[in-house]
Amino acid sequence: MTENRFWRLDRHPEGDDFAAALSLQSETLPPIGEGQIRLKNEYLSMDAGTRMWMGEREDGYQPPLPLGSPMSGQSIGRVVESRDDRFAVGSLVRVFGQWAEYSTVVPDEAWAVTLDDDVPDIRQHFGVLGLNGWTALYGVRDIIGLVEGDVLVVSAAAGATGSLACQIGRNLGAKVIGIAGGPEKCAILTDRFGVDMAIDYKNEDVAERIVAFGEAPTAYFENVGGAILDAVMPNMALKGRIGVCGLIAGYDRDEPMPGPKHFDQVLMKRLRIEGIFLPDVPEKGPELYERLLGWLREDKIDLPFDITEGIENTLVAYGRMMTGKNVGKTLLKL
Ligand SMILES: NC(=O)c1ccc[n+]([C@@H]2O[C@H](COP(=O)([O-])OP(=O)(O)OC[C@H]3O[C@@H](n4cnc5c(N)ncnc54)[C@H](OP(=O)(O)O)[C@@H]3O)[C@@H](O)[C@H]2O)c1
Repeated sequence: MTENRFWRLDRHPEGDDFAAALSLQSETLPPIGEGQIRLKNEYLSMDAGTRMWMGEREDGYQPPLPLGSPMSGQSIGRVVESRDDRFAVGSLVRVFGQWAEYSTVVPDEAWAVTLDDDVPDIRQHFGVLGLNGWTALYGVRDIIGLVEGDVLVVSAAAGATGSLACQIGRNLGAKVIGIAGGPEKCAILTDRFGVDMAIDYKNEDVAERIVAFGEAPTAYFENVGGAILDAVMPNMALKGRIGVCGLIAGYDRDEPMPGPKHFDQVLMKRLRIEGIFLPDVPEKGPELYERLLGWLREDKIDLPFDITEGIENTLVAYGRMMTGKNVGKTLLKL
């Protein structure tokens, strides 16, 4: 008999009070059913977007998680039991499953993928080679349509998705302006991720710094919304393109985020705005993966990890990411 600890969503969180909303539960796992596989998880991915389905809003890109459900999220683990011939016992697999020690899933319902063990760091299957990397490359290259010579602004630029968007922008020949909270993160943006200018939105006037760069941004990879969007939008170049990847400043709201203050600039500057959502284009996965793996092997892309250990500390890891204590990809190691 295998004991499994998992996190359950008991109530909708208020702000960042995740401890009052989720509880660690224990269960004895039944044998797996026909068509299922079971993973012993090694890492849980902390993803900011999951905050949306902890809440009650029905108009997100994913329906709210019913209260009383195991908290859902991505994990990587080894298959320990399999009733699906495509997934051999012992293989490394990524699933969209639960925040749990073991994930029991039907592979096709959980987007299960067998992973290559022979990569520089298997944790990159969440980062450069996973959802964050794929979203950043698809967003920067295909949605924004970045070309050499563009000036790209990236918000939440020291986080997982943002730091990859910065480096992809640089690799594609753009000048990059990264926006992040605090001088330490800004130093990492310039020293490690190679941005041309870093803006500390907690201590600097974002609009003034963008103007001071001397070239108006032609492209914007948006992860935050709110005050940062309001500072960047009126300073975009004519015909600028904005890819909206995330709006983390509003994820703890129960009502829609107020519209951008300078929406009129869409007309005045003939801006184009489009959302970025990777599940729209599953067929692009293999090509995105190969491109990113090539950059990883050539040391042209890099993603540090912010690791917390132990299932009982999952909310510590999650809180670090949601309150900006992380640099790069936040993971829970089991
Ligand atoms: N569309 C998609 O399919 C997709 C896929 C992956 C990620 N995303 C989006 O990408 C964004 C980043 O997600 P991630 O999982 O990679 O997390 P992350 O960037 O590693 O961590 C979140 C970061 O957001 C910043 N932040 C938090 N609250 C903020 C606020 N109120 N104002 C400004 N910045 C704030 C913090 O950095 P600072 O210290 O700099 O504030 C924090 O480090 C999210 O908006 C997420 O929804 C979208």
